[in-house]
Amino acid sequence: MSPHLSEETRARAVELLGLYPHPRSALIPICHLAQEQDGWLTPEAMAEIAELVGLSPAEVLGTASFYDMLHTEPVGRYLVSVCTNIACMLRGAYELLGHAEEHLGVRSGGTTADGVFTLEEAECLADCGRAPVCQVNHRFFGDLTESSFDSLVDDLRSGRLDDVVPPHGTLVRVRRRGGLRVDDETVAVERARTAKAMAERAAQSGGAS
Ligand code: FES
Repeated sequence: MSPHLSEETRARAVELLGLYPHPRSALIPICHLAQEQDGWLTPEAMAEIAELVGLSPAEVLGTASFYDMLHTEPVGRYLVSVCTNIACMLRGAYELLGHAEEHLGVRSGGTTADGVFTLEEAECLADCGRAPVCQVNHRFFGDLTESSFDSLVDDLRSGRLDDVVPPHGTLVRVRRRGGLRVDDETVAVERARTAKAMAERAAQSGGAS
């Protein structure tokens, strides 16, 4: 199988693997990297990630489909998530969402025909002090009104916010170069221990059936 992940993405994924004693612990950060590359998690990317972390593609899909921040279907260049939880609701979030649907010409959950915007309704985004709030590609915009929402859309469409809003999927955390590093010997010991425990569990469950 020819690699789907770019050389750069794959190199960073290998670096991330070195941060954890168990390869599967790097699953979510690597999913974010792949999502940064393609905008969503393609089946090809999930198969390659599975190989990298020692899981099956179905297990990668099972994990990815559990988390709202990971997308197993294509989304627009900008993912606009409008919070409708209590603080935002009290400050007009549903009216704002209705306005966003009308302005973008898609219902919540849909993507504009040009593939630029996907609109979705979100639970609390933890920025309640600036309600109503939306996120665009994980960046926050608060104290929104209908007119400031329209300006935001215009700015995004024209590229005026390119320095502020990165491509979909980009998180600071998976780009971080520092942080805890585990030495090679510890990683080897932990991997051997995990493999042994998994083999024992498999033998036990095989014996029980
Ligand atoms: S309720 Fe909207 S950010 Fe918390």
